[in-house]
Amino acid sequence: MRKKLLLGNWKMNLLVGEAKAFALASTSLTQKAKEHQIMLGVAPTYLGLQTVLASNPELIVAAQDMHFESKGAFTGEISGDMLKDLGVSWTLIGHSERRSYFGETNFSCNKKIKKALSLGFTVVYCVGETAKEYEENQTKQIIHDQLSVGLQGVSEEEFSRIVIAYEPVWSIGTGLNASAEHAQDICSYIRQTLATLSSSKASDAIQILYGGSVKPTNVKTYLLQNDVDGALVGGASLTVESFEALLNEMI
Ligand code: 13P
Repeated sequence: MRKKLLLGNWKMNLLVGEAKAFALASTSLTQKAKEHQIMLGVAPTYLGLQTVLASNPELIVAAQDMHFESKGAFTGEISGDMLKDLGVSWTLIGHSERRSYFGETNFSCNKKIKKALSLGFTVVYCVGETAKEYEENQTKQIIHDQLSVGLQGVSEEEFSRIVIAYEPVWSIGTGLNASAEHAQDICSYIRQTLATLSSSKASDAIQILYGGSVKPTNVKTYLLQNDVDGALVGGASLTVESFEALLNEMI
């Protein structure tokens, strides 16, 4: 039985003091989530990681990205080894904003995913089609490429530390939600594809999240779908009140 997972992606938002206030105020939420077998976490900026870890140890704390090398001449980058050193054990990889603004490719995602898994991380691998690809009916082909290249060389054991976030690019931050039927169709396709890349046992156990304009008013419709195990939420995860409202809808 897969656990539900609610993950907030804060993107480039919240000052360190704001992140700390959120984390301190979230202790009643993590307690509630635990009682209902729901996993709860946030992905702060790199600068917020330490204070969030220290302020609520029950919250899953994910980085938003990491470099595939351990150290070296990569100005402005942060390595998995550095994140691990802070006590971080989850990371997003391949978010559509990394892909569209910072040149991330399926190939570079694969390098990062393999590195993160080798360090013991749980990886939230983000996939999804653009508006053009959606309109041209290419969604499944795009998702297939993102999964088969991004997860190449991942072992059966390592698949147990993979979470997939399906985020249609056209629905991120736009208020244009994918329908629950579309989310289910693609998340089911993702699970079938994962079975061919690992095994049906492994793919049955993998949590698949929907992301893109998720709000307290619509999160439940996604969670009712067989292959949707939770949500990756941007804007609606930025205040503890809204995050609590999302959690309440998932209970
Ligand atoms: P929004 O919830 O703001 O649409 O962002 C979704 C997202 O990109 C989460 O990673």
